[in-house]
Amino acid sequence: MLKIDIISVQPGMFKGFLEQSIVARAVKKGACEIRIHDLRDFTHDKWRKVDDKPYGGGPGMLMMCGPWFEAVESCETEQGVDRRVIMTSPAGRRFDQRLAEELAGESHLVFMCGHYEGFDARIRTLATDEVSIGDFVMTGGELAAATMVDSIVRLLPGVLGGGPAATSSESFGRDGLLEAPQYTHPPVFRGMAVPEVLLSGDHRRIDAWRNSEARKLTEGARPDLLK
Ligand SMILES: C[S@@+](CC[C@H](N)C(=O)[O-])C[C@H]1O[C@@H](n2cnc3c(N)ncnc32)[C@H](O)[C@@H]1O
Repeated sequence: MLKIDIISVQPGMFKGFLEQSIVARAVKKGACEIRIHDLRDFTHDKWRKVDDKPYGGGPGMLMMCGPWFEAVESCETEQGVDRRVIMTSPAGRRFDQRLAEELAGESHLVFMCGHYEGFDARIRTLATDEVSIGDFVMTGGELAAATMVDSIVRLLPGVLGGGPAATSSESFGRDGLLEAPQYTHPPVFRGMAVPEVLLSGDHRRIDAWRNSEARKLTEGARPDLLK
């Protein structure tokens, strides 16, 4: 079972995500265990202060070392199990399907959600990985952590109804292509018909069509994936 700890100053942001998504189903099925920690529980002053002004001046506040070191150290890992500690950061390695697959194979993940102007640089020493979800800046790391956890958890065995096939034939799968267009009922909607081949029942032709459509779509929308 994959153990996931998420540390945040806004733990309430994970409520809906944990109660209503596929992640909720994964937890119920025992594929993973997710614990949310309030960073302020690791402070020792009556204001539960987690941030302070940056040395050298500059706008905003930075997250302080003390609460972060205590919080990450409190996320217990079983003996002999290597854990990955993932600091959310615009400066990190870009998250993608390969990294989601890699992390889905781990036993214990700890996500660090930054806030304000980010982390005191010394907090980076706690992380095994620094990961960004794209070239833009968000207010906090909560949505980044939720994005990553969602895409990791759906890869865990038994979480999606269709088994391994449900994820292996998707966009960014092993062939590196985007997924071919898909259709469902009705066969004709407002004059738009489902391609005849998909109604043929001939699975060799269907596979060939899907392959060629996936390639065309990828060439048009994401030629960088073909390099
Ligand atoms: C306002 S941002 C800090 C930005 C930082 N001052 C900078 O210029 O790189 C606050 C926190 O949100 C999270 N965050 C923001 N954008 C992110 C992204 N693209 N990917 C992952 N985490 C992000 C990080 O945890 C970050 O510490």
